[in-house]
Amino acid sequence: MMLAHSGRGLLLSLKLTGGDRRAGLCILAGSPPSCVLRPVVTTGTALAAADVERLTEWRNRYRSAFLTEFTATNERTERWLRETVGPSDQRILFMLDDLEGRTFGYMGLAQINWDTHSGEADAVVRGLEAPPGTMRVALRTMLLWAESQLGLTTLRVRVRSDNPAVAFYRRVGFVESHQIPLRQQRQGTELHWIEDASADSGVVGLVYMNWQPNSEC
Ligand SMILES: CC(C)(COP(=O)(O)OP(=O)(O)OC[C@H]1O[C@@H](n2cnc3c(N)ncnc32)[C@H](O)[C@@H]1OP(=O)(O)O)[C@@H](O)C(=O)NCCC(=O)NCCS
Repeated sequence: MMLAHSGRGLLLSLKLTGGDRRAGLCILAGSPPSCVLRPVVTTGTALAAADVERLTEWRNRYRSAFLTEFTATNERTERWLRETVGPSDQRILFMLDDLEGRTFGYMGLAQINWDTHSGEADAVVRGLEAPPGTMRVALRTMLLWAESQLGLTTLRVRVRSDNPAVAFYRRVGFVESHQIPLRQQRQGTELHWIEDASADSGVVGLVYMNWQPNSEC
């Protein structure tokens, strides 16, 4: 049986040593494999400028898919990676590479709680064309890995109700548990979507979905 603390150790070591497809630890997705989940290493020179640029460009393209809407810059993305993602034992981010090494997307785990063995899929984005179903296979692989290798028994995703990705998550095996209304709050140039149970439930909500895969997913 997987111990919670060994899962945490694995997560932290992967974030330090993964990343290099030639020598690092990556996760193969699909059978036969169709893509590779490559951990983003944020320390020193290991952080690739090309990945920072991709993350920035694709985050801006899908601005309205997230709870904080802002214009990303490479500087801000790099700071987020080095200061928020890198040092945290509650997060990991993967770039998605095809078998030729072309990076076409990213996805991660966040809000990991080692005491309750829970976490959530976060920042799931396809930035370039990929064969249909590749994102589903990659996400399912990441979730299975989180279960079997990190020991996480409860995995969820939260997605805005106005995002067509709700149907994608259903297809991956997530089931809606509840929805909380969102209200907008402007902070300078940023738009924040805040959970507010008293807000008009007819507008945009945050859909909570739990991963309950069946054999078809
Ligand atoms: C959500 C996203 C990752 C899906 O990527 P994708 O390349 O379409 O995913 P796949 O091809 O692997 O699709 C897997 C399944 O989901 C279904 N699906 C994907 N998008 C769908 C949509 N908008 N409506 C209905 N079904 C959808 C596909 O039909 C497919 O079903 P199938 O396996 O029965 O054929 C992509 O649309 C994206 O990057 N969106 C912008 C970023 C975003 O909103 N991310 C979520 C933030 S919470």
